[in-house]
Amino acid sequence: MQAGARTRAPVLSVRGIRKAFGGTAVLHGIDLDLAAGEVLALVGENGAGKSTLLNIICGALRADGGSIRLDGTERHWGGPRHAMQAGIAFVHQELSVIRSLSVAENIRLGDYCARRTGFVDRAAMRADAAARLAELGAQHVRPELRAGRLGTADQQFVEIAKSLTGDLRVLILDEPTSSLTPFEADALFAVMRRLAARDVAIVFISHRLEEVFAVADRIAVLRDGRLVSDRPAATSRREAVIADMTGRGGLVAPSARPQPSTDVVLAATALRDRGWLGPIELTVRAGEIIGVFGLVGAGRSELLELLAGLRRPGGGTVRLFDGGGLPGSPGEAWARRIAFLPEDRKAAGILPNLSLLENMLLSWRRTMPAWLRLTREQRAAAPLLRRLAVRASSPRQRLRTLSGGNQQKVVLGRCLAVAPRLLLLDEPTRGVDIATKAEIYTTIGELAADGMAVIFASSELPEVLALATRVMVLARGQQRLLAENAGLEEAAVLSAAFRFQTEPAEA
Ligand SMILES: Nc1ncnc2c1ncn2[C@@H]1O[C@H](COP(=O)(O)OP(=O)(O)OP(=O)(O)O)[C@@H](O)[C@H]1O
Ligand SMILES: [Mg+2]
Repeated sequence: MQAGARTRAPVLSVRGIRKAFGGTAVLHGIDLDLAAGEVLALVGENGAGKSTLLNIICGALRADGGSIRLDGTERHWGGPRHAMQAGIAFVHQELSVIRSLSVAENIRLGDYCARRTGFVDRAAMRADAAARLAELGAQHVRPELRAGRLGTADQQFVEIAKSLTGDLRVLILDEPTSSLTPFEADALFAVMRRLAARDVAIVFISHRLEEVFAVADRIAVLRDGRLVSDRPAATSRREAVIADMTGRGGLVAPSARPQPSTDVVLAATALRDRGWLGPIELTVRAGEIIGVFGLVGAGRSELLELLAGLRRPGGGTVRLFDGGGLPGSPGEAWARRIAFLPEDRKAAGILPNLSLLENMLLSWRRTMPAWLRLTREQRAAAPLLRRLAVRASSPRQRLRTLSGGNQQKVVLGRCLAVAPRLLLLDEPTRGVDIATKAEIYTTIGELAADGMAVIFASSELPEVLALATRVMVLARGQQRLLAENAGLEEAAVLSAAFRFQTEPAEA
């Protein structure tokens, strides 16, 4: 590539990588070099081929053509374990912790399987896991905890801790920050810099351009399976990178914010869950979009789950638009047109082997009489698929073969398809590319203007400030701020979220 300043021989060098799925070419001959100690950001729209390329480099997928050299020697991976032994570690876009195992077992799973004697020194395993988590700044994740009990961000830390072995040469991270708030992301970036200083080469994918510019030495853009640019971060402009990604000039700015009406959709007084969340005081009117911000573990997801009927209340009162209280179950919530998008789409009841159309219309089916369905289904889905820019070969493509961002758009589309009165979204644009994000903000804004109320949680402060009409900040389950977005300073939101960070956690 044109980055002439590099003098060292590349640790990783790929040439002419090609890949097709079922006759559709996804990668058209990719060349990429990576020097030791370098941090490369790989960016591009949903479905551009980023994960496919990195999956090939780490041995999880086989290329149809091209070569991979590690330290100048051409390699052919038998699988990810083979690449891992050679020093290439990969943290996947979809979290893959084993929920029934402990954190320590997850982190040391690889060595554990490699050992044939069957003897495991549990104390040593825990100590090692704790050391790796501490290196990530994630001391709060206790090695003996069951991984299934962890939130998404902590699961992410476990995944990364798994890859921190001594002979690591290349670390590949597919959207490592998509569920991290700026604080956790910073902790991760500090780790990436430390590893780079130890001559580990790092490739990471991100849809958040601010962090790409903050962390990467180089930015490579993939568009429609081709590498369209590869340049030093320090001298690149954001607009140029966006133009390379989208193939066009600027982005659509989100439309004007909706005006709230007087119809109260939700009124919560002294609402608590059975843990440490609350008391919450919140009245939401039709047309309002409440953005909930807070650190990982602040209670954002807990609040949404409580409102969606997935968590039992521990006190307080709630009155909803239809005169009823909190839904008693997720099924009841959908029937009352309260749509919920959970943070982890795998937990959202997606059916990976069904088509994207079927997945999108699951909830619609629950609220539609049978005789109305068939004809209306396709008609209802088509405009949504277009608006959300779902990229697929056809509506019949199986959900699991869609790129991560496109799967996210489908689960979001499923919520919108029921025309909800109250829309609850946890990380609505997780993994969605920046052009589509703007489109989603516009769509949600229009639906709110039509009388829907929205409560969403996001780890991205720019998203909260772009979409919300009012902002709520949670810190350790406590409501710290509830204010109109207009005129709200970013610093005020951050300091409210951060206020308790330095105090010791109560037992
Ligand atoms: N197993 C598969 N079968 C069929 N098509 C596939 C399969 N895996 C990936 N694809 C297709 O390859 C294309 C590239 O997908 P990929 O996951 O590499 O995109 P990406 O750039 O990582 O996008 P995102 O930002 O959404 O994660 C997509 O159109 C996707 O549908
Ligand atoms: Mg991907």
